[in-house]
Amino acid sequence: MSDNIEIKNKIKERFKALYGYDSCRAFFAPGRVNLIGEHTDYNGGHVFPCALTLGTYAVVAKRNDRKLRFHSMNFESLGVIESSLDDLVFNESAAWTNYPKGIMWAFKEKGFDIPSGLDIVYYGNIPNGSGLSSSASIEVLTGFILRALYGFDVSNIDLALIGQFSENKFNGMNCGIMDQFASAMGKKDHAIFLDTNTLEYTYVPIELQGIKIVIANTNVKHTLTSSKYNDRRRESEAALNELKKCCNISSYGDMDEDMFNLYSKNISNDINRRRAKHAVYENLRTISAVKALNSKDLNTFGRLMKESHISLDKDYEVTCKELNILAETEWAQEGVIGARMTGGGFGGCTVALVYEDCIENLIAKTGPIYYEKTGIKPDFYIVDIGDGPYEF
Ligand code: GLA
Repeated sequence: MSDNIEIKNKIKERFKALYGYDSCRAFFAPGRVNLIGEHTDYNGGHVFPCALTLGTYAVVAKRNDRKLRFHSMNFESLGVIESSLDDLVFNESAAWTNYPKGIMWAFKEKGFDIPSGLDIVYYGNIPNGSGLSSSASIEVLTGFILRALYGFDVSNIDLALIGQFSENKFNGMNCGIMDQFASAMGKKDHAIFLDTNTLEYTYVPIELQGIKIVIANTNVKHTLTSSKYNDRRRESEAALNELKKCCNISSYGDMDEDMFNLYSKNISNDINRRRAKHAVYENLRTISAVKALNSKDLNTFGRLMKESHISLDKDYEVTCKELNILAETEWAQEGVIGARMTGGGFGGCTVALVYEDCIENLIAKTGPIYYEKTGIKPDFYIVDIGDGPYEF
């Protein structure tokens, strides 16, 4: 919390310098890391993410007119970006403000009238481009602010759905619900076991005595990420449509291994069949992983993390050379229970469960090997699981 007060003071100072007054309120929404269940959230499967204590902060005040003034301390050089509640359209030149603008647009679309404009300063401590959901945290944060300031009758799950809706329809990224759900519904020291088909969820305590979550950043983000992501959605949907013709399922979440083995021959295209295989097996792996964790079987959890990575590499093809080198190097280190890519892929981060007394060694060994093979220095973050959005 003392960190929070320091951050709040820093943002308030910036707010006053930019806008000339200082009566404002401060809010936070977290980023997320997904432990297992990747590329299953738009395939009707399960995911197992948790909110981080890292995320996006904002200080904000209502205006008396319809103007919107945005500033991000992460993009100082862009200065104050202005818009208006009467001009909520996607615009390349609006840069990162397309995320908060998208949320305001989405509230309007859902029938909520935003009565006045805002002055806002954002600041995020999620590393840029790391795949730890900085955009979902801005979306959930902005929705949370609108609810707090204008009293809109929406739940935190609604905030997640509005975030996904705006990302899909305003920002053109066809993401699933996982990131926004993890940010809006996060709970300290718990991961969220979410069935994306029904939005039923349970909180699973992550009591990892002597074990920490270590995130390693490849520090690469390959181009065309969102178009490749949208391609994967199309490929798995095409395969699902073929499966639906021969068996009674509504999503991959309805299939087990036996069914897949029986019916997968009906998928005419080999690539799409591999996409479908990942969707089915990754969902089953996620269910098994949560069972294993509940019975304190960490070895099984770790093995499933590794299998998840391999499937994302070979069948879903969303890893990249750098993610593979990082994960493979981590697998070989002492005290690593499991490691895998996390998030959308094509760069970004791996997540690993590591015995605390082995973390120093992991970083000391993995960093140089990764650098030698890629010419890039990775970053490591030892993270804590935090709460969903709050005012502070
Ligand atoms: C991105 C998307 C999520 C999810 C993951 C992959 O983070 O925003 O909805 O599909 O990729 O699991």
